[in-house]
Order: sequence, then C-alpha cells, then structure tokens
Amino acid sequence: MTWEFSLPVKIYFGTDKIKELPKIIEELGYKRGVLVCSNTLKKNGVAEEIIENSNGKLVATFSDIRPNPTTDNVNACVKALRENNADFAVALGGGSPMDCCKAACAIAKGDDIIESYHTGGKPINKDEVIPMIAVATTSGTGSEITNISVLTDLLKNVKSTMNDPLMYPKAAIVDPRLTLSVPPKVTASTGLDVLAHALESVWSVLHQPICESCSVHATKLVFEWLYKAYSEPQNLEAREKMAEASIVAGVAFSNPRTAGSHACSFPLTNLYGVPHGEACAMTLDFFTRFNAEAENGRLNKFARDCGFSDAYALADAISDLKKKMGMAMTLTEIGVETSEEIETLTKMSMTPLMERNIIPLSYDDIKNMYISMK
Ligand SMILES: NC(=O)c1ccc[n+]([C@@H]2O[C@H](COP(=O)([O-])OP(=O)(O)OC[C@H]3O[C@@H](n4cnc5c(N)ncnc54)[C@H](O)[C@@H]3O)[C@@H](O)[C@H]2O)c1
Ligand SMILES: [Fe+2]
Repeated sequence: MTWEFSLPVKIYFGTDKIKELPKIIEELGYKRGVLVCSNTLKKNGVAEEIIENSNGKLVATFSDIRPNPTTDNVNACVKALRENNADFAVALGGGSPMDCCKAACAIAKGDDIIESYHTGGKPINKDEVIPMIAVATTSGTGSEITNISVLTDLLKNVKSTMNDPLMYPKAAIVDPRLTLSVPPKVTASTGLDVLAHALESVWSVLHQPICESCSVHATKLVFEWLYKAYSEPQNLEAREKMAEASIVAGVAFSNPRTAGSHACSFPLTNLYGVPHGEACAMTLDFFTRFNAEAENGRLNKFARDCGFSDAYALADAISDLKKKMGMAMTLTEIGVETSEEIETLTKMSMTPLMERNIIPLSYDDIKNMYISMK
C-alpha cells in the first residue's frame, strides 16, 4: 500500500474562535477583503458583526448565493472581488458559500469566467488566485479544509466538483456557537453528509490509514451526537461534537475523496431538489452493504472499531438514524415516478466518483438499487 497525505490549512477550532478572525487577518497580512456569505447569515446579523469587528479590512459583502451554488453565482462573486480590488476573501456559511467563494478566489485576479475551469479543463493559474479564510456555520461539508468546490452549471445541467492544490483555504475557523441557529432539518442533512464523508473515504480506492482513523472517530461522534444536535438545537455540547465530527471527517475524505453515495447525490439534488447531505444519505446504507465484504471484510472491521457488530449492523443503524430524523427513505417521496426517471438517475450517477468504490459497481447494480428504493 502506498499513499500521500497533505493538508495545508490551519484550523482554529472552538467556541468563540470567530473572535480571533481580525487577529488572523492581521497575521496573514491581508489588506482588503470581501465577506462572502449566505443570505441567512446576512439577515441574522452575524455577517454585520464580523464586518464591524474586521478593523476595516472587510470592505464589502457578497451574498447572492443559492444552496448548491451555480457557476453564475461564482461569476457574480468574482465580479465583486475584482471590482473591490480584493486581496483576500472570508467565506461565512455552509458548503454553498464556502464553495462559491473558493472557486471565485481561485480565478479572482484573472479575466475569465469559472465555466472555463469548472468543466472547460482550464488549469488554475497561481497568479490569478487570492487567499481565502473559511468560517463554517454548518457541521457538514468540511469544505473549510478541502480544496474542492462543488458547482452546478445550469446551462449544462451538471453538478460536479472542481479541485486544485491551489484551492485550499489558508485558514479555517470552526466555532460551534455559529451552528446553534441551524434548523433541525439542516442539522440532520449536514450531519449525514459528515457520515457520508467518513464512510466513503473508507471504501474509496484511495483509502489510507491516517484518513481511516479519522473516519472511525467521526463515525462514532455522529452516532453519539447527531440526533442530540437535531432534537436539542441549543445543546452546545452536541453542536461542538458535531463540529468536531465534521472537521475530522473533512480530514478523512480530503485525500481519498468521496465515492458512490456522493455520485448518486448529485442527480438526486439537481433533479429532485434533495438537500446535499440528505441526498448522500439516501444511498449510504446501500453502499455500506455493497462494500461490506470487500478486501477481506475490511469494512466489517471498521464497523466493529466504531462499535457495531459488522457492516450490516452499521447499515441498519444508518437507516434507523435517517428515519428518526425524517429524512427521505424512498424515491417516491422525492417525486421519482417513472422507470425513465430511474434510467436518467442511473445514467447521471455513473460518474468518475462511482469508480472510486472498492467494489466495482455496474450500471445494472445502481439501477437495481434505485428500483429497490422505489
Ligand atoms: N467542498 C466540499 O468539499 C464539499 C463537500 C460536501 C458538500 N459540498 C457542497 O456543499 C453544499 C452544501 O452545503 P451545506 O450542506 O453546508 O448547506 P448550505 O451551505 O447550502 O446551507 C444550507 C442552509 O442552511 C442555512 N444555514 C447555514 N448556516 C446556518 C446557520 N448557522 N444558521 C442558520 N441557517 C444556516 C443556509 O442559509 C442554507 O439555507 C452543496 O453544494 C454540496 O455539494 C462541498
Ligand atoms: Fe458531501
């Protein structure tokens, strides 16, 4: 087995760590930045407070970003960065504003649009990049420490990732207090995204020991704390544990990447509007069973390390957790009606991410999975 591990992001974790943002900006020597955030964070006053405390370093706000950001959102964000002559940006929010900001920062000093890079194959140029500080407000994507941006191109009707070593944030602030206002349904969905990152990195063909030990830790935390964070939104301990799970699962998948459940999540979100984590979770128990016996039952051993009798018991626990939190369990509930729709879902799920699964899965395997989910 050979592997490489790299994670060049400085992480600031803990309650009230957000107060250190001005000091961090100062230490990094940045002069003129734009705050990139979701509208929710603008409306609830958090964005305003951050601007007020930035010692004049944050000169503008950009918040025109929808959940599952589009390439249009990124281009508008790039425009704001260029117009403000920004030498850095702060992303504040869940995966959507963080991914939008990350892609925008990667091309800010150039003169092209993001589509050229996202699906057009143009490489990121280090002379066009400005640095970004990520402040996560959901416990979910881990985007604050990855070099990945997931974007939807509405013209091409495709949701796909772009990544480059130049796209890592410079620093990540994870302050659990910022997640207290996350509504239960978003807590459930983003928490299941954490679980998907932890598990898919284990059954990715690129799995490796450092990441796998992070997966064990994150998986145990999710099963211990997610339901509590969902049912008691103001429970700071549960929020802190889920924030820890999120960042540790981010480390877990940062190098092995994700696999089949994320591959399936993209069309489930794009075509049926299922939120990202909920969409990943829809197939997570299925992939756990698919992969259970691979590589001499490595996943069974992983499941035992996490406190389950085997991978099948882990799969059952995933189903129970989804059900308890009111997540979609069938395709019918999200509006999939015809066999043509199942064909389309299957076709759109067979992306390179699917090829990362340690068990090779065919078109028919995935189609049969979808049929069994009706
Ligand atoms: N870059 C990566 O490595 C990576 C990994 C997984 C997923 N993603 C992507 O991230 C996106 C999903 O991100 P997400 O799940 O964090 O959701 P999100 O960023 O879309 O946020 C979901 C909702 O929660 C609200 N919200 C966020 N923080 C809040 C807070 N503190 N209080 C109240 N409301 C709050 C937002 O306004 C939004 O309405 C998807 O596009 C997904 O594909 C990226
Ligand atoms: Fe994800």
